[in-house]
Amino acid sequence: MNLGIIGYGNIGELLSQNIISHDFCNLNKLYIANRTLSKINHLKDIDPRISITDDNIEVAKNCEKIIISVKTPDLANVLDPLKPHITKNTQIIHTCAGTDLEFKDCGLSCVIPTISSTYDEDNPKKGVSIIMHDENVSGENREFVEKLFSKFSQIKVVDSPMDLEIATIAASCMPAFIALSLDLFAGELEEKCNLSKEETFKILAETLNSTAYILKEDIYSPDELINKVATKNGITQKGLDVLDKDLPDIYKRLISKLL
Ligand SMILES: NC(=O)c1ccc[n+]([C@@H]2O[C@H](COP(=O)([O-])OP(=O)(O)OC[C@H]3O[C@@H](n4cnc5c(N)ncnc54)[C@H](OP(=O)(O)O)[C@@H]3O)[C@@H](O)[C@H]2O)c1
Repeated sequence: MNLGIIGYGNIGELLSQNIISHDFCNLNKLYIANRTLSKINHLKDIDPRISITDDNIEVAKNCEKIIISVKTPDLANVLDPLKPHITKNTQIIHTCAGTDLEFKDCGLSCVIPTISSTYDEDNPKKGVSIIMHDENVSGENREFVEKLFSKFSQIKVVDSPMDLEIATIAASCMPAFIALSLDLFAGELEEKCNLSKEETFKILAETLNSTAYILKEDIYSPDELINKVATKNGITQKGLDVLDKDLPDIYKRLISKLL
């Protein structure tokens, strides 16, 4: 079976790297198409199973499975010219957040990957890909998508547009929110000590990593963890009081902007 990826930006590159690194996930050939061919030229020498092109029709003619990963407003413009060249058995998947585009003939699966799933040899399966199939996607095609993304990420299948939006915020936007939050925090601390911003950032990132592990593995619930760290009138409690007062409003504003 051949798979084509159209669009080699942040997500197209992430998907390609994961698929290649997982020994092509049982695919015969991987077609990678990008508008700017020079961006993908280096891929053609990696493995004979990779074909590169700037012609999306070549992907449509050769691939049973096609993942479109262009900016959301470009999705329809990329999909429409493919239609005359695909068969009833072609499966179309897209990664575009914030669209309700339909394709009744073949059905559409939407997968929202996350930059957290960037390939890393030491930890090849991470991040959560959010998946929603429309009603025209066959059971076999659903299984294909879910199996493929399970190779390099956790998956969460949702069945309503609102769940898709919420899960997208949690899995796909959150890495950027976390990065900004740590960066701002490290910047504030820099002015007050001899540690460089980079040194403080590393401490924060390691703390985030180990705390996330404790919470993810249910070693402590959020409440238990807070109680283990904070003592009455101690500095952690003072910090928690500030966050308790200000964070709910920030999150309310954030969510109302995004939904
Ligand atoms: N970034 C994230 O963390 C993230 C997470 C989840 C979902 N998404 C969604 O995934 C989609 C892609 O996001 P991205 O961040 O990867 O975008 P991006 O970095 O802007 O990449 C888009 C790619 O599409 C290519 N392209 C544009 N028109 C094309 C065409 N007609 N034929 C072939 N290739 C074409 C562009 O080629 P050029 O090289 O010529 O510009 C570019 O490489 C978006 O809809 C976004 O909402 C993104």
